[in-house]
Amino acid sequence: MEFRVERRGAVETWTIDGESRRNAISRAMLAELRQLVARAGADRALRCVVVTGSGDRAFCAGADLKERATMSADDVHAFHQGLRDAFLAIEAAPQPFVAALNGAALGGGLELALACDLRIASETAQLGLPEVGLGIIPGGGGTARLPRLVGVARAKDLVLTARRCSAAEALSTGLVTRLSPPERLSEEAWALAADIARNAPVSLRQAKRAVDGGFDLPLVEALALENRLYQDCLATEDRREALRAFAEKRPPVFRGE
Ligand code: COA
Repeated sequence: MEFRVERRGAVETWTIDGESRRNAISRAMLAELRQLVARAGADRALRCVVVTGSGDRAFCAGADLKERATMSADDVHAFHQGLRDAFLAIEAAPQPFVAALNGAALGGGLELALACDLRIASETAQLGLPEVGLGIIPGGGGTARLPRLVGVARAKDLVLTARRCSAAEALSTGLVTRLSPPERLSEEAWALAADIARNAPVSLRQAKRAVDGGFDLPLVEALALENRLYQDCLATEDRREALRAFAEKRPPVFRGE
């Protein structure tokens, strides 16, 4: 198995189990990631996913460069198609995904984190897109997702220099939204996921779609999208449960329907 999967209540942590290769993305790892995301999409009891890496050196060192050396151009092409599909599937998943950056997040590793909804990093993590120093360019969405997250100029400052930035810089640009001491990262990532998972599942799905889907639209269209997604929440039993819980001064019990 390429991932260790641990369930705690409504939250799952997926840990890339490849410390000796710094959790680099092999074909087997990518195939398993796609299976896990597909399974998550059908699991209505699963309300948030944390993705992290094993060890304290790397979250994910990008494509497996040793495997890459054995691949034909067609293989590389197919690998990138798989990468794009996997990352789009994470974005399309009903649950929020939290990337917990326990160490270096480089190349495809950072791109995996960019496809997640939130990023929390160990204070010692380093982040970067080294591809232009390797004779390629980011191939897993880095040039498209990074500017949407931090702005064009800050994205180019990373993409064109191929440099590694510190977790503190990543926090200051919004590339990550939280830092944690290394030894507390997994607990804090889980606590963040648990905070998310307490909320109404249909609302989480619709809110994720509203933010992601509305971002590139003109304002009036984004508002229309938001309104459509809002309407779907109105019919849910969870909305009625929230009103009852408010009246009864107790926390709501959401069932995702
Ligand atoms: N693919 C395959 N193996 C990798 C790898 C990758 N992307 N990154 C690291 N490894 C392997 C190393 O080859 C080494 O294997 P070995 O023990 O057989 O020699 C092992 O992981 C440890 O690497 P090392 O560099 O000693 O670890 P570190 O903890 O000092 O540094 C990184 C970790 C991630 C900062 C460093 O390995 C690195 O910069 N990797 C390359 C990142 C990169 O350029 N990715 C490509 C993006 S397109």
